[in-house]
Amino acid sequence: MKPIKAGLIGCGFISSIYLENCRNFQSMDIVACADLNRENAERQARDFDIPRTCSVDELLADPEIDIVLNLTIPAAHAEISLKAIEAGKHVYMEKPLSISLKDGRAVLDAAAEKGVRVGGAPDTFLGGGIQTALKLIEDGWIGRPVAATAFFMSRGVEKWHPNPDFYYQPGGGPMFDMGPYYLTTLVSLLGSVKRVTGSVQTSFDVRTTPEGRSIPVEVPTHITGSLDFENGAVGTVITSFDSVGNNLPRMEIHGETGTLSVPDPNHFGGEVLVKKLGRKQFENVPLTHGWTDNSRGIGLADMAEALLEKRPHRANDQLQYHVLEIMHAFHTASEENKHITINSRIEKPAALAMQQIF
Ligand SMILES: NC(=O)c1ccc[n+]([C@@H]2O[C@H](COP(=O)([O-])OP(=O)(O)OC[C@H]3O[C@@H](n4cnc5c(N)ncnc54)[C@H](O)[C@@H]3O)[C@@H](O)[C@H]2O)c1
Repeated sequence: MKPIKAGLIGCGFISSIYLENCRNFQSMDIVACADLNRENAERQARDFDIPRTCSVDELLADPEIDIVLNLTIPAAHAEISLKAIEAGKHVYMEKPLSISLKDGRAVLDAAAEKGVRVGGAPDTFLGGGIQTALKLIEDGWIGRPVAATAFFMSRGVEKWHPNPDFYYQPGGGPMFDMGPYYLTTLVSLLGSVKRVTGSVQTSFDVRTTPEGRSIPVEVPTHITGSLDFENGAVGTVITSFDSVGNNLPRMEIHGETGTLSVPDPNHFGGEVLVKKLGRKQFENVPLTHGWTDNSRGIGLADMAEALLEKRPHRANDQLQYHVLEIMHAFHTASEENKHITINSRIEKPAALAMQQIF
């Protein structure tokens, strides 16, 4: 019997990889699942041998459950998390923490008051690719970091996603969808951001699905901006659904004595490359850490272990809130024609041990 018991709320697409990976974690088990749509819960329980399905309210009232795993849609994240906290449960959720900053703050405040923990995705920064990049920075391979670039460029989702509408509604757009991966990675490598400026644009009023259905676009779909990190580095970020093609790297960290090429922050593994000052080329660095396959859920496993060991968990609510504040700031800066001061701060999450198992 594993010591920490979790209950899943939201048995949709992303829940499968969590259920698959949670089978192997040592400290936690998923013992029940629930969904607004009971059939979804029953299907996932059957496919992944979850002992029981129940209603959302029954799951929240279940005294056996320590952590609520909230994999609902972004618009329901705060509501479900607040209910779980009210019921005295710890919560781990998919990204983002919430859509509005006000709701995100309410989740953090409620958890602090109840003495429960909140954590959440993305946890790709705990993967072997980004942990190797972190180790190289901390071991001094590029010297003092002075700048960073991060680019997510695409032509949107309507050509391949079966239900693309919500990507073009408030809470969607490339920043709220993909920004969490890029920004969480940047701050986990470089620490807190202190101010942000940006320009945003809705390049196309309407998107058209392959069947010819029109989707009105209600949010900016090209967001570009600058970040000033507290450590003095300056970041340049673009997230876009408006680019037909591009040759930009995903992410680079530029230091006094070298440049680090960081792998795709939406994945756990990937190639890490370094170009040292005076060298002609980038050189491939073997990954120092494991967790290079799709390891979604290691943030949850780390939180479960942290509860047992009474230590901080890495994919935590402070990190999620800081990222949410930055994502909003790109948009607010553009609307208000100015730099936006970021009020929240994070502790850089501790590096994983090289042989870390969960
Ligand atoms: N789809 C992806 O590729 C992907 C990747 C990474 C992260 N995510 C994140 O995972 C989360 C879920 O995405 P998804 O793709 O699995 O969505 P989905 O629509 O496939 O699944 C969401 C599930 O939550 C249920 N649900 C919605 N509101 C609920 C409520 N109030 N109470 C109980 N159940 C509720 C729905 O019935 C559905 O079964 C989102 O936050 C998304 O950002 C998705």
